[in-house]
Amino acid sequence: MILIIDYGSQYTQLIARRIRELGVFCEILSCYDEIPQKTKYELKGFILSGGPSSVYQDDSPKLQNGLLELGKPILGICYGAQLLAHTLGGGVHFSKKREYGFTTIKIKEYTDLFHGFEDKASSGNLKVWMSHGDKITALPKDFTQIATSDNSPYAAIQEKNKKLYGVQFHPEVIHTDFGGEILKNFLFKICNAEKNWDIGSFVKRTVEGLRKEIGEDKVVLGLSGGVDSSVTAALLSKAAKDKVNAIFVDNGLLRKNEFEEVVKALKSFLSINIIPVDAKEKFLSGLKGVVDPEQKRKIIGRLFIEVFEEEAKKIEGVKFLAQGTLYPDLIESKSFRGPSATIKSHHNVGGLPENMNLILIEPLKELFKDEVRKVGKELGVPDMILNRHPFPGPGLAVRIIGEITEESLHVLKEADAITIDELIKSDQYDKIWQAFTVLLPVKSVGVMGDERTYEKTIVVRAVTSTDGMTADWAKIPYEVLEKISGRIINEVKGVNRVVYDISSKPPSTIEWE
Ligand code: XMP
Repeated sequence: MILIIDYGSQYTQLIARRIRELGVFCEILSCYDEIPQKTKYELKGFILSGGPSSVYQDDSPKLQNGLLELGKPILGICYGAQLLAHTLGGGVHFSKKREYGFTTIKIKEYTDLFHGFEDKASSGNLKVWMSHGDKITALPKDFTQIATSDNSPYAAIQEKNKKLYGVQFHPEVIHTDFGGEILKNFLFKICNAEKNWDIGSFVKRTVEGLRKEIGEDKVVLGLSGGVDSSVTAALLSKAAKDKVNAIFVDNGLLRKNEFEEVVKALKSFLSINIIPVDAKEKFLSGLKGVVDPEQKRKIIGRLFIEVFEEEAKKIEGVKFLAQGTLYPDLIESKSFRGPSATIKSHHNVGGLPENMNLILIEPLKELFKDEVRKVGKELGVPDMILNRHPFPGPGLAVRIIGEITEESLHVLKEADAITIDELIKSDQYDKIWQAFTVLLPVKSVGVMGDERTYEKTIVVRAVTSTDGMTADWAKIPYEVLEKISGRIINEVKGVNRVVYDISSKPPSTIEWE
């Protein structure tokens, strides 16, 4: 395996995904954590990420104790390269000219890191992605320059004997020419890593592990109809079949017909006990009169736990609680920057209390979202579930601005169904990260036939994104928007105006509440 040391770069997770795509297992370690004495697989090398700090500031993160002494190959990227150079006695200085975006570098030596590049880039020129203010200005002892750019004499450096490498650019970003090849060379030419990470063997290993762990005992899990809990259920289904009990709560805040459709889809590929629970009344009355977004989220979270516990208690002899926690959930909770301010409190099916006295099973905790989808595919989870847009735990409650009533839920469900239907029909659905509608309490004047109307407003929101952390509004063709708007106004009673949300994240968020 490879350990990636995180210095706070926005690309750290991307490095990890690239390494895994190349078939090598890797984990991310915060630069403030100690280097572990023992690792899950044999440690073959380190990648030092980029980061926002400057090595010459007193409080900037340093190389961890013992890292260099392990004698493993190291690839430093951007800040990681500067830190390597600085620690070993080289020079790093503030650069008057920031390099941001595309730059051309010139390869000076076709070394192991650039193995095979004689054919790919015979001129020696590579277009790469840069994003830095500081630059290496003097080489540490025994290092050589292996690539330059107009602004960086040391765009790439090496100490060949000790297998230490530094690149000022970002090979993990798709905009960098042959970035994947550079990482591949580091893994296989320099670290002698082996390909040990593929989805098929992950599934096999995990199912065997779960089978052993669960034995003859019982498991309970919460289903939401989302990708993570469905794939968790699929793994458990393979490992322990009817010893698994999956509780799926209908909180009345799901989309039109969603509960029934998802239960049907889940039953088609799972051999576990699915327990549908109708708790619509409980949630609706709990939310009566509540307009504050955080209040709504907290009430929904609390009610969910109440309903779940009540149902779980009815199953005798349960020993395990399974959750669909993913790797980013774990690393984000102890991230480099520390816990970020609560912008919205999140409620997930997984957020269950510890006092249930159950042993936690989290079979997806090593995986990224795209890997979870691949596991799902391997296990026969239908596309209807795997390719669905993300849906927030508190559901439609955070898409109705103001009070949630049966009537407002009905209006929103109808408008949402039309929007999704038109996006699917026009082949836009799969190009979009997430699309939905929001119901505003704002009323405006309209005219229908010869009559004046005074009714509510629907917002259509559609964004493109790779991880939901940042997002851009989707450039849906006007004809599709026209169709959506026309149908909503004509078919949904109580709405006479449709607007399209053209805000990106940041500064806006994806959901309205
Ligand atoms: P925001 O609105 O914060 O949303 O830009 C980012 C992504 O997270 C989803 N989201 C949630 N997911 N529980 C969830 O499981 C929640 O409470 C929650 N709130 C927002 C949102 O739909 C988007 O994909």
